Amino acid sequence: MDTYKNNILILFAHPALQKSRVNRRLITYVRDIEGITFHDLYEAYPDLHINIKREQDLLVKHDIIVLHHPIFWFSTPAIIKEWFDLVLVHGWAFGREGNALKGKKLLSVISTGGRESLYQKNGFHKHTIGDFLLPIKQTARVCKMDYLPPFVVHGTHTLTPEEISRYGEVYRDIITAFRDDEIDLEKVRGYSLINIHPEEIIIHKENR
Ligand SMILES: Cc1cc2nc3c(=O)[nH]c(=O)nc-3n(C[C@H](O)[C@H](O)[C@H](O)COP(=O)(O)O)c2cc1C
Repeated sequence: MDTYKNNILILFAHPALQKSRVNRRLITYVRDIEGITFHDLYEAYPDLHINIKREQDLLVKHDIIVLHHPIFWFSTPAIIKEWFDLVLVHGWAFGREGNALKGKKLLSVISTGGRESLYQKNGFHKHTIGDFLLPIKQTARVCKMDYLPPFVVHGTHTLTPEEISRYGEVYRDIITAFRDDEIDLEKVRGYSLINIHPEEIIIHKENR
């Protein structure tokens, strides 16, 4: 587990993976990256009976926690909410004595059916996608975690297979770069989404 600079846990949730067009493809780019722990929550807990101790042990062993899911009703699939409610308990995840997650990074990886133009202050949804992720951002802050700008795939219904592949490649490159500590965090924090300019945030060894 200590072979790489950062241990990354991908918590994935899609309640109908057999019907998925986008996320089913995206996960193929990351689930087998060496040194990454890929954890499919609906596969592990189809009846939503989450093993709290197992989840907490997993969290402790990793430096970067990725929450990967489609956006459903401007929020997460139900199992992610259940996971938050049960796993992130007072005295462990937050509160004066709750420091188990302190300093770990949290990255949301999400997909929306709605196009990017809908997720603008003057667009149909009246808010940016970052606004809709506020409960996750604030949860991370209360748990003393370092919340990163999200990786967002907008407009899933009209994406071509080539476009999905491109998102997959960028997802793979960003996760691999995090694993190897090759992400320019200062630049990342300057963007609203982590995947806007991937070439700007990945530090290639030859440029060091
Ligand atoms: C129950 C449900 C609720 C959804 N709610 C939203 C939503 O609030 N905003 C949005 O942009 N897309 C919404 N969508 C569209 C999904 O985000 C989209 O189908 C998904 O990201 C595509 O990924 P997939 O191909 O892996 O399923 C919803 C879809 C379902 C099934």
